[in-house]
Order: sequence, then structure tokens, then C-alpha cells
Amino acid sequence: MLKLRPRRLRLNENLRSMIRETNLSVKDLIYPIFVVAGENVREEIPSMPDCYHLSVDNAVKLAKKISALGIPAVEIFGLPEYKDEIGSSAWDMKSPVQRAMTAIKKAVPELIIVGDVCLCQYTSHGHCGKLCGHYVDNDETLKLLQKVAVSQAESGADIIAPSDMMDGRIAAIRDALDVKNFFNVSIMSYAVKYASAYYGPFRDAADSAPQFGDRKQYQMDFANSREALKEVELDLAEGADIIMIKPALAYLDIVGKVREKINRPVAVYNVSGEYAMVKAAAANGWIDYKRIVVENLTAMKRAGADMIITYHALDFAQF
Ligand code: PBG
Ligand code: ZN
Repeated sequence: MLKLRPRRLRLNENLRSMIRETNLSVKDLIYPIFVVAGENVREEIPSMPDCYHLSVDNAVKLAKKISALGIPAVEIFGLPEYKDEIGSSAWDMKSPVQRAMTAIKKAVPELIIVGDVCLCQYTSHGHCGKLCGHYVDNDETLKLLQKVAVSQAESGADIIAPSDMMDGRIAAIRDALDVKNFFNVSIMSYAVKYASAYYGPFRDAADSAPQFGDRKQYQMDFANSREALKEVELDLAEGADIIMIKPALAYLDIVGKVREKINRPVAVYNVSGEYAMVKAAAANGWIDYKRIVVENLTAMKRAGADMIITYHALDFAQF
């Protein structure tokens, strides 16, 4: 007779739940929202079913709902009213992002506001920084990112999340925040952000695709993993509070490695392309949407993520 039978502990759900190593909760999730100018706007994003472009009034309504469902945080992305060479609408206090932050903080003070800091939605060329010819000028871009971060902190952001992948941005942003006495505003660094085709639907949604070339001069090569650890080390040394890895599903090996290496919180970004694939297959009846979402999000936690930025957050909270 067999002495060792792992199946003994799989006999029923109560036993299985007692030995479950990973538990997924709504409290692990951050929900991204897209804000636009205007009033009473609520337009579904074609490549991201059930996600919407919202004017500030509707963003506030959604924020109340998100908070009532127990989701602790939102990440705010914006579509500006004007674009220029340097992306100056990104730090305009009258832009949709800044107005949404202020309004949401006032209406739902306990909801954590994460601000995505980048310039690609705001520049006429769609790159994540200031150009010098066809090259994104790293150090000049840092000065602009500082302005964006400060404007978001002034608008009520609790966490600043720079997604541009410039070198030295964490130190630059930390300095700029501290000079303005925003000691308690945290930085969640998109430390390991790969140049990925999985961002496609987001770029449609945010109108942020580069007008020429690609982002490979600043985002990471998806063939690399040792380099990811270097990026994490640098960002922690510069003062990052939370380390993010992006995308999620094809990069869980990286999440596992980073988790083993550091003693700070790890986040993953379950990006637009990952969401769109699941939604599309579910819409065709090819997969079971609820089960796939729980499986995918649990896998991200099992790999080592403490928190997950995901467009599925609202659906998951309502399951
Ligand atoms: C901006 C930014 C991107 C995403 C988040 N912030 C797109 C990009 O780098 O082109 C992607 C999010 C998603 O795909 O869900 N730099
Ligand atoms: Zn960008």
C-alpha cells in the first residue's frame, strides 16, 4: 500500500482551504481608471471591454463604488486636452488627472490614489520623455517628471508611480516630493517594465502610441532577467517604496526572482493586452471568465506579488 498520498488532503473543499498556500483578496487589487475632459462622459474602450473613458464626475461615482466593494486603491490615467513636444499638460493642475485626484480624494478620502507618472499620453510624439532628435533625453526628462509627480501629490495622490523607465527617476522624484514636504507620499516604481506588445489596447485607450519608432531605448528587453534585478536594486537604492513588474503573466519568473531577492513590497501590473485576451476568449464562450480571472490573479500572488494592478478588479470584487 502507498504510505504517501498527497490526495488525502484534497478530499473536500474544507481540507483544501486549510492547506491553501495563497489567498487572493479584493484587498490585493488596484483598479486603473481613465479620465477625460468634459461632463457625464462614459464611453466604453473598444479594445478593453467593460473599461471606460470617464469624465471627472463619473470617475468620482466609480471611485465610490470601488471603495464600497472593498478595493483599496485606484490608479489614475488621463487623456489630456492638449499635447505638445514636452507633454506640459501632464503637470497642468486643470487637466483631467489632477482634477480627478482632487475630486476623488474629497469624495472618498480613504481610497488610495495611485498616480501614473509618464509623458507619453501628453507628448505630441507619443514618447515617454523629451526628445533630442529621435532619442529621449534622459536627464532633461527627469525635470519634467518631477513636475508631474509634484502636481499629482498636490492634487491628492497617495502613491506616485513613474512608468517612464528613465534612469535616475526615483531619486529625482523623491527629491522633488521631499522639497515640497510630501514625505509621506510613496513611490511605486515601475522598476521592471518590459517593452511589450501586451500594452497595445492601453495605447489605443490612452492615445499614447509612439508616432515613430518604439520604446526599446528605455523599456527593457523581454529576453532579460538578470537586468531586472539590477533595475530593482537601483530603484530601491534611490528610494522606491514598492517595486512593480510589468506585464504580469508572461513574467511570473521575474516576479518570483524579485520576491526572493528583496524585502520590500512587490506589485505586478496585469496589463491591457492580458485583460483583452481573457475578455475576448470569454466573449466567444471559449473560456470560463470567472475561473480564469481567479486562476490568473492567484498565480500572480503565488509567484510573489503582494498587490496586483488589474482591470479585472471590478469584476472580481463583484463575483
Ligand atoms: C505609460 C504606460 C503604459 C502602460 C501603463 N503606463 C503604456 C506604455 O508603456 O506604452 C501600460 C498599461 C497597460 O497596458 O495596461 N508609459
Ligand atoms: Zn510612457
